[in-house]
Amino acid sequence: MTTVITFGTFDVLHVGHLRILQRSSELGDRLVVGVSSDALNVAKKGREPVFSQEERCELVVNLKCVDEVFVEESLELKRDYIQKYAADVLVMGDDWAGRFDFASDLCRVVYLPRTPSISTTGVIEHISKLGGS
Ligand code: CTP
Repeated sequence: MTTVITFGTFDVLHVGHLRILQRSSELGDRLVVGVSSDALNVAKKGREPVFSQEERCELVVNLKCVDEVFVEESLELKRDYIQKYAADVLVMGDDWAGRFDFASDLCRVVYLPRTPSISTTGVIEHISKLGGS
């Protein structure tokens, strides 16, 4: 059985999230997703997520292509998570290209292209503008 692991915040779930998860799942038999904790999101992106880590986990684990989720507490623990979940493949978006090659002694590292023209930040900005009009 081939296990694939990937990571992200997945706040305000959108089609870019769904597509990378679907494509990740096609690289193996089981997809495990590390969902950034609320604290990690603040550290990484400088803002509180709209949806809590529990809500984001609930949404992601209920997608057909996802088998298991866990809360990612620290960016520094990628190697531990890969080992804990016995991952054979690590998938990251290509905005991170090359930056996870340090894990290539543990598993295959794959960078998948992001879906153009959509992001959580963009959706939040779009909704705020609607509210202001
Ligand atoms: N992703 C993607 N295509 C997009 C947006 C995100 O493939 N258009 C992928 C990212 O590369 C990552 C995963 O979805 O592997 C989770 O990304 P996340 O950072 O949670 O979403 P963003 O929309 O990029 O969020 P933000 O705008 O807050 O940076």
